[in-house]
Amino acid sequence: MSSIILYCRTGFESDCAAEIQFHAEQLGFFGFAKASSGAGFVEFSCYQAEHSQALYQAIDFRQLVFARHWFLALVELQLDEANRVASILAIEQKLPKCGSLRLEYPDTNDGKALSSFCKKFTRPLENALVKHQWLTKKANPKLPAMQLFFVSGTHCWIGYSDTRNGNAQHNGILRLKFPAEAPSRSTLKLDEAFMVLLNDEEREQYIQNGQHAVDLGACPGGWTYQLVRRNMFVAAIDNGPMAQSLMDTGQVQHFREDGFKYQPERSNVSWLVCDMVERPAKVSRLMLKWLANGWCQYAMFNLKLPMKQRFAEVNQDLNLLKEGLSELGFEHEVRAKHLYHDREEITVFARVY
Ligand SMILES: C[S@@+](CC[C@H](N)C(=O)[O-])C[C@H]1O[C@@H](n2cnc3c(N)ncnc32)[C@H](O)[C@@H]1O
Repeated sequence: MSSIILYCRTGFESDCAAEIQFHAEQLGFFGFAKASSGAGFVEFSCYQAEHSQALYQAIDFRQLVFARHWFLALVELQLDEANRVASILAIEQKLPKCGSLRLEYPDTNDGKALSSFCKKFTRPLENALVKHQWLTKKANPKLPAMQLFFVSGTHCWIGYSDTRNGNAQHNGILRLKFPAEAPSRSTLKLDEAFMVLLNDEEREQYIQNGQHAVDLGACPGGWTYQLVRRNMFVAAIDNGPMAQSLMDTGQVQHFREDGFKYQPERSNVSWLVCDMVERPAKVSRLMLKWLANGWCQYAMFNLKLPMKQRFAEVNQDLNLLKEGLSELGFEHEVRAKHLYHDREEITVFARVY
């Protein structure tokens, strides 16, 4: 037996399942997803057992929008409550030697209740795995991470993840501290987007002091706050009121205009960000216009997804943007993720070059 376990936000299991099914079929692998609503994860199994591993290796994790993290599960196990370590060491499937250990659980209320159990169980398990040479004594990020995914204290999946092709954060969740001076909680979405959708090198290259940015649908200013914090000058577009603290920085100009009609006066805009609550196709077309006209270099935006078939919608919207840019002859990069701080929405990064 082997399957792929994908973590997602509760309520998004069917979207996560539709997405992995779509990519599997595109690559010529066929299988089925088990996705209970509210479970916070999806299990995808190929009809031919060995295909799950090939599929896990073939997909670039960054292509997946709805999965927070994933791993290849080799065995689903009922543990003996009296000796969990022995149950694990007794599995017959051969795991590759691992360089780290992750004990994780779904992001649900039941899952969170397993947090202290996982913390307590980590050390004895680690000691046993090192002793049996399943795990290196010193952490080695070049080797796979051993994954145990618990749905109860005695029921888990065991497998491994490729540390270069997944999310290194515990449970696939980047925890961020809400800055007390930020005017809205949605500030965390843009902060997380910069951390998750860009790598270290890209952050250094694309985000620089003194850049100009435009924030469409800016009020009260949570996203503008993140841009100001990164020493940018921001044109904030919204009919609502901006937080006075941001206006007092001298880095923000507020324009009470329609974000769909606003055009920058000068060609000095590096970043366009957009959090307007609108139909996702309409926002994608707007982003296409900005990028194709060269009105910005980089765009970071939300697509709101109040509908049922969210994966199908996202696919259409991202294709609209990608195909539109291709038809106009632009090389481009488009990445999207359902971030931890996103709710019924996803966040997209796009650039042309
Ligand atoms: C989700 S809120 C943005 C929150 C903001 N990103 C923050 O962090 O504080 C959406 C905003 O978009 C604005 N908005 C919606 N449609 C707009 C439009 N056509 N033009 C400008 N602003 C718009 C609304 O007034 C609202 O303030």
